[in-house]
Amino acid sequence: MQKTHNCGELRLSDENQSLTLAGWVNRRRDHGGVTFIDLRDRSGIVQVVFNPDNSPQVHQEAVPLRIEWVIQVQGVVRKRPAGMENPNLPTGEIEVEVRELKVLNPAKTPPFPINKEEEVDEQTRLRYRYLDLRHERMAQNLVIRHRVVKFIRDYLDQQGFLDIETPILFNTTPEGARDYLVPSRVHPGEFYALPQSPQQLKQLLMVAGLERYFQIARCFRDEDQRGDRQPEFTQLDLEMSFADREDIMALTEDMFTKLVAEVVPERKLLASPWPRLTYQEAMQRFGKDNPDMRFGMELQDITDLASESGFKVFENAVASGGHVRGLNASGLGDYSRKQINELVEYVSQFGARGLAYLAITSEGEQRSSFAKFLSEDNVQTILTRFDAKPGDLLLFVADRAEVVYESLGRLRVMLADRLDLRDPNVLAFCWIVDFPFVVWNEDEERWDPSHHLFTSPVPEDVPLLDSEPEKARGQQYDMVVNDYEVGGGSIRIHNRELQEKVFKLIGLDPDVATERFGHMLEAFEYGTPPHGGIAPGIDRLCMVLAVEPNIREVIAFPKNQTARDVMADAPSVVESKQLRELHLRVVD
Ligand code: AMO
Ligand code: AMP
Repeated sequence: MQKTHNCGELRLSDENQSLTLAGWVNRRRDHGGVTFIDLRDRSGIVQVVFNPDNSPQVHQEAVPLRIEWVIQVQGVVRKRPAGMENPNLPTGEIEVEVRELKVLNPAKTPPFPINKEEEVDEQTRLRYRYLDLRHERMAQNLVIRHRVVKFIRDYLDQQGFLDIETPILFNTTPEGARDYLVPSRVHPGEFYALPQSPQQLKQLLMVAGLERYFQIARCFRDEDQRGDRQPEFTQLDLEMSFADREDIMALTEDMFTKLVAEVVPERKLLASPWPRLTYQEAMQRFGKDNPDMRFGMELQDITDLASESGFKVFENAVASGGHVRGLNASGLGDYSRKQINELVEYVSQFGARGLAYLAITSEGEQRSSFAKFLSEDNVQTILTRFDAKPGDLLLFVADRAEVVYESLGRLRVMLADRLDLRDPNVLAFCWIVDFPFVVWNEDEERWDPSHHLFTSPVPEDVPLLDSEPEKARGQQYDMVVNDYEVGGGSIRIHNRELQEKVFKLIGLDPDVATERFGHMLEAFEYGTPPHGGIAPGIDRLCMVLAVEPNIREVIAFPKNQTARDVMADAPSVVESKQLRELHLRVVD
């Protein structure tokens, strides 16, 4: 090796040790004729000193060194002179007195500083990702990710799970997004689909009798990008035979509770065991099925008071089958009209046509856009329901249930940010259960599976599939932490009749079903064990554990928001010869 030690690991106990270090010039200072260089490698930074009193020649050789040059130094560890220690650096008590210097490679000035965190345009960071990853924070994120995956592998190995790879070139395994297709050269006009998840394959491994499978699996989904989505992302995909919902949830909960304690012990788990909410309860209390449970500000229903309230906006919403719900943004009671108008504007993005308010200033004075229409009694009931006190701001939306939930659910999280209620060091995991089995697709006028095609309905709800499918519950569970859905799973259908019934319910033509999923239906006839599984998203989990605002920060080489790799410039135009080989022609 061209180095004997790591820069960041040197301590006072290494005093007088002769060593060779190699790394990057992180910073350079010249002081009273002496050159000080912060030398950086993956482990951290150590100060190396070129002192003309020790070696005029080496001091001279250090003159051309610039930031990000790669150098090798040979020297001796010395205790720093009294008063010169740097308490902010783990290696701050020592320095390395350089005897020999070798330049391994000079460097151009980087397009952005590496030795400090500075706001840099993300496209530039992605264009030079190999430099961006030199930032300590980014490298640390990759360390966290490595530890997460290592912990998972060790844990599941101990629990008797087998790590099995499944194909990337496959047929469609739909999870609700568009497929990425790969044209076949040898079969003109035919395409592979990249798996949106290994769902079918892991179920087939259960049919195969492997009983406990997992994989750190790459998944591909052509969908609109957001901060918590990438076109290719990674799941811990797992599946178990002869397991009930409780078994899979217990295993997952135990694994992630221990993972947090080992990988990010400084973060605090809010509750153990993790709270469980039904889908209904999550919507009613938080307005979303991925609630942030680190704070209260829960939604309250006032539909009962609204119907004959005298306030037309409320009355009309109830008359057309809608709801009136609100929340108490405690601490914002002195908001001005202008500030409240900004909130109205915020919720309008989610379809809310207004945001009624009732504020109690810190002086105890009431201001409201609607209280004048209501009876004294009704106002009092509302105040009691929200436990209102001076300094509180009650905000209401009257609309269709979906609009009420979405706008208040989002508003709650946005206001919690303003009120500093979302402590990044707290991890509030929870489970969401009892999802509706199907949801109505307005555009296509049919039922869509609320999870995926292979999720089993709750056994006692199977008869409802024929009569009132909207009332049937699915055996699905979602794992949520701090406002993110980080995992989803279910108990699966394991017999052909029920699977066919579900295909029919969601309007899948029997011929199409046979063509696309015939192998699954066939497999179910050869002694399929009852089975189920889950797939936590590794990127989203690491993002939360590393306290990052989006998943790109925890992925070495992510795509940008338009699904492009701006470093290698992918996707790209290909040569017409390649297209011909693939039997393709590009039309616009
Ligand atoms: P589901 O579609 O709910 O379930 O996905 C599971 C988890 O994968 C993560 N995830 C994503 N992460 C980043 N970018 C994306 N585009 C993206 N899409 C999903 C989320 C999500 O919770 N086969 C089933 C699992 C099962 O039933 O076992 C599945 O894929 O964290
Ligand atoms: P308007 O009668 O339109 O002046 O509205 C009176 C108050 O009711 C204002 O504070 C509006 O923001 C609010 N408002 C209007 N529509 C709704 C709605 N659908 N839900 C909640 N508040 C509303």
